[in-house]
Amino acid sequence: MQNVFAGKKIVIGVTGSIAAFKVAGWVSDLAKEEALVSVVMTASATKFVAPLTFAALSGNDVHTEMFSAVREDTMAHISLGRDADVVLIAPATANTIAKLAGGFADDLLTTTILATRSKVLVCPAMNSRMYSHPSTRQNIARLKKLGYAVIDPDSGMMACKEEGEGRLPEWDEVKEYLAQSLSPQDLQGQQVLVTAGPTREPLDPARFLSNRSSGKMGYALARSAFRRGGEVTLISGPSTLPCPTGVNMLKVQTAKEMYNVVLEHANTNSVIIKAAAVSDYRPEKMFEHKVKKEQIDTQLILERNPDILLELGKRKKAGQVLVGFAAESQNLEQEGMKKLQNKNLDFIAVNDISGDNTGFEVESNQVLLLGTSGAVSLPYTSKLHTADLILDRVVSLLVEQAGKTEHN
Ligand code: PMT
Repeated sequence: MQNVFAGKKIVIGVTGSIAAFKVAGWVSDLAKEEALVSVVMTASATKFVAPLTFAALSGNDVHTEMFSAVREDTMAHISLGRDADVVLIAPATANTIAKLAGGFADDLLTTTILATRSKVLVCPAMNSRMYSHPSTRQNIARLKKLGYAVIDPDSGMMACKEEGEGRLPEWDEVKEYLAQSLSPQDLQGQQVLVTAGPTREPLDPARFLSNRSSGKMGYALARSAFRRGGEVTLISGPSTLPCPTGVNMLKVQTAKEMYNVVLEHANTNSVIIKAAAVSDYRPEKMFEHKVKKEQIDTQLILERNPDILLELGKRKKAGQVLVGFAAESQNLEQEGMKKLQNKNLDFIAVNDISGDNTGFEVESNQVLLLGTSGAVSLPYTSKLHTADLILDRVVSLLVEQAGKTEHN
């Protein structure tokens, strides 16, 4: 699943809101991802953005007419919906939402929606008074009941210079929901706990011990697990990365804090993946005030932090999948094997951190998966794809374990 969008038929319904111009950028991005995008515009949408804009960006004709004399378009209201892998309505006005809630089909977009059996994502965008009106609230509740996925709008300053809820969400967020609807839902019903990033062990209010972890690998795992239907909790040390869409993130600073939060959640998760680079040691003493350089001792006294993964291995429940990571610069297989066995893991992903383009901070990775059944070297690829390949292995273990439980 390297690019979930490539070759997928995505119908985007654009309705009459000032936010329609933002969706032009979305269409352009999806076309770059090699999705096959068909845009359907309502008559009012064409007042805000010319159909030609969407045609140029998608590389396809834009559909605006229900009754067309163009031969290929005469059955568009059926074929577009029937062939779509997913339909996205963005921006969705109060009027279109009301029509869908009532099952109306009086233009090409609403007929397309009635004709589709694919997932339909709706992004409401309107003035906050219109959004909070009981009719709109009721219509949105009805859409959810009917099985539409409604993505909540953002809050903030609107085009009408009023502040409130009703702004079109950011593309990064909507794109993740689209990716989710195009991904296999093989982690549905699973609670997935991922740890990411470094820990910081303070010496005084200004200084700390830490490491180079950016959080990229762990955040990619959380993102991929959400796309595959998992209920994801991400426990993250300090990182500048935004919380992945749909993920419940808990931030921690120190190894001790991570230990407490992870163990608090461990029991309720069926999958635990420890991608965090936890500091093995912390300064024995944390000074309340910044230590003046003249007073700094040249020898730092350290004490050991608890090993979270070791503890998880001891407490591992039947059916739980426990995955560790190891950052190594030599003897990858040997070092990984030791950790796999000592910590009672199902498998371990060993990163080679000696290269420039794998391991810490970079966007790509190459890992060696070590399990009781042997070693598999994953290809050099993006961290998101690496995450997907690791989750493929997790899914096969879950299937295997479910099979065993059935037999017993
Ligand atoms: O965040 P990025 O910049 O994307 O970089 C990704 C990464 C290189 C940090 C990541 O892929 C990775 O390898 N993480 C584990 C790094 C590490 O700390 O390895 P380790 O060999 O020290 O620890 C082995 C395992 O024990 C790890 O799963 C670690 O989370 C866990 N551990 C270690 C020490 C400790 N006190 N408690 C732990 O739980």
